Order: sequence, then C-alpha cells, then structure tokens
Amino acid sequence: MQTILITWWLGYIGSHAAVVFANAGYDVVIVDNLSNSEIGVLEKINELVAKPVSFYKCDLRDKIELSKIFETHSIDAVIHFAGFKAVGESCEKPFLYYDNNVLGSIVLYELMVHYGVKNLVFSSSCVVYDSMHVDPPYTESTPLKTINPYASTKLMIEIMLQDLTMHLGFRVIALRYFNPIGAHPSGKIGESPRWVPGNLLPYIYWVLLGKYTYLSVRWNDYATPDGTCIRDYLHVMDLAEAHLCAFQSLKSLGTEKSNNAGSFDVINLGTGRGTSVMEMIQLTEKVTWKKLPYQICPRRPGDATSVYANPDKATTALWWKSTRSVEDAIRDGWNFIQSL
Ligand code: UD1
Repeated sequence: MQTILITWWLGYIGSHAAVVFANAGYDVVIVDNLSNSEIGVLEKINELVAKPVSFYKCDLRDKIELSKIFETHSIDAVIHFAGFKAVGESCEKPFLYYDNNVLGSIVLYELMVHYGVKNLVFSSSCVVYDSMHVDPPYTESTPLKTINPYASTKLMIEIMLQDLTMHLGFRVIALRYFNPIGAHPSGKIGESPRWVPGNLLPYIYWVLLGKYTYLSVRWNDYATPDGTCIRDYLHVMDLAEAHLCAFQSLKSLGTEKSNNAGSFDVINLGTGRGTSVMEMIQLTEKVTWKKLPYQICPRRPGDATSVYANPDKATTALWWKSTRSVEDAIRDGWNFIQSL
C-alpha cells in the first residue's frame, strides 16, 4: 500500500482530498500547522473514511520536525497544498507569503530530495495567468503575469519545481485551480471562513444567514452580458478527485526511487463554463429558496472581467472532467454552512 504525505490537509481543499485519497485505499499522512484550519476537521474526515488518516501538527518550515515524519513513514508521494491564499493580505504582508509559501516549499522539497521522494502534486492557481490583458478561455500556455505577492509565490514555486525536475528527477504535476466552491455532500466538511469571507459564495451564505444585510455586487459595467464579472466555479469534490487522477498519472510514470527521469506538467482544473455574479445570485436563490438582498457597489481593485478555463488538457492528460454543476456546489456548500 502506498503512503501519501499531504500538507495542510485540514484546510478547505485538503480536507476533501484527504477523504478522496483515504477512500481510494491509500495510507494518508497529514501535516498541518493548524494556522488556517481546525483540528475538529480531522474527526470529521475520519467519520467519512474507512481507514483513519495519520496526523502531525507541524510547520513545514520546521525541518527537524518534518524530517521525523519522513523517518517514520515511507512516503511515496507528496500532495502539497500548504499556502496562504488571500490576495489582499499578501499585498499588505508580502514577507508572510514568501516565508510561509515559498520557504515552506523549499524545506519540504529539500527533505523530499534527502529521502528520495520524487512524486509531487502541487496546488497552483489560475491567478498566474495574465487575466488583465488576455481574454479567456485560458489554456496552460496562456501568457503569465502576476500582480500580487500571493500569485507570485505560486509562480516562484512552479519555477523552482521546473528546476528540480530538470536537475534532480522530480516528477511534478502543478494543478492550476480556477474557483473552488461547495462542500462534501455529507455536509460534514466544507469551507469555514474564520474571518469575514472575501470570496463571493461564502459571502453570499453569510448574507443568507443574516450576518450581513446585503451582498455588495462589485459593479455592473464590465464587458459581459449582464455587466458583472465572470468566473469558472468548480465543485470542490471534482477538484479533490482531480488530485487523485494527477497522482495516478504520476504513478504511471514510475514510482521507483531509482528512476531519475524528471517530468513537469501544468494542468488547469476548471469546468470551462463561466458564471457571472448576477447568475450566481439567481442560482443561489433558486437552490436555497431564499431572497438574496444585494447592492451594486464600486469595483474591487484588481478584478479581472472574465476568467474561465479551457479544461481540455485535464481530460486528455488526467482522464478527469468536472461532473458536478454550480447548483450542486451551491447546495452542498449551503448544507455545510447551515450545519455550523
Ligand atoms: C479570488 C482571488 C484569487 C483566488 C480565487 C479563488 C482576489 C483578487 N482573487 O478570485 O486569487 O484564486 O478567489 O479562491 O481576491 N464579488 C462580489 N462581491 C463580493 C465578493 C466577490 O461582487 O462580496 C465578485 C468579485 O468582484 C468577482 C467575483 O465576485 O468578480 C468572484 O470573486 P471571488 O470569489 O473573490 O473570486 P476571484 O475574484 O476569482
């Protein structure tokens, strides 16, 4: 049985992927410093899987503690989620992002080299595309440009991984996520914003729950059919399953620790369908049977008009395709948020 080390699996996407991997029969070892997640999520994950996962509270930058985990378990592959992801915060505190996201990755990859672990699935983002100047749909060869430190850390890590591929035989798939939303259909795990949510759907839920009186629609004069911005919203369970497909694809390249042939690939994870802010409001009202109060408010700085994927490569390279609708995601997310 293969052992998979996963970083920050108690966070939003990691917790869903943990369930998918454990239920596919893998031994799952979770490393999380709990800076952005709660230990209670571990209990929920274990309620959803047949075989309990192992958990270590450890910061990736703590080389000594992290190396003990590599000593204890014979790791076959790493799924690397660990990273802060708030764009605004990254502009205010860039060094926090360089330190946590980039330095954490450096320590992890150094230990992977030391212990002969070469297979890695890295969680990257569509935020690396030049969405201010290039129209969608975005393929993996769309020009890149980062305009905030969060995005830059994703690109820095991708570049670092290309080096490790060329010179140290790493086998890497970097998955560029579009907009993950929703929750596990059980309602046990999901995205639990500790602070005021910045993303659209979590904020919509807070309005529906009465924590805020209305949703601020960030302007309606963009060059889209209804004037509001368009995004590619992807069910988090589809996203989690894509990680398993990516890992299986790496496995087919060979897991022998002596195999020195490196490979690096980037793959978009999106649906290929765009949904506007107004459409999200209408879909949420339909799914929840609730009226969503909103007001048209000034633009959010740095917002791109329209961002959605060309997901064809994921189909051909990973045999993966999203299967759940935006309505499914809204419904599952709503069930989760109501259970809190
Ligand atoms: C944001 C992040 C991006 C991250 C992605 C997925 C920014 C600038 N970008 O992108 O790095 O990868 O989430 O987590 O933060 N909107 C409103 N009212 C709100 C909230 C959002 O109208 O209260 C609008 C936004 O202006 C945008 C759309 O809804 O047009 C989607 O916003 P959001 O959910 O934050 O996603 P992204 O902007 O794609």
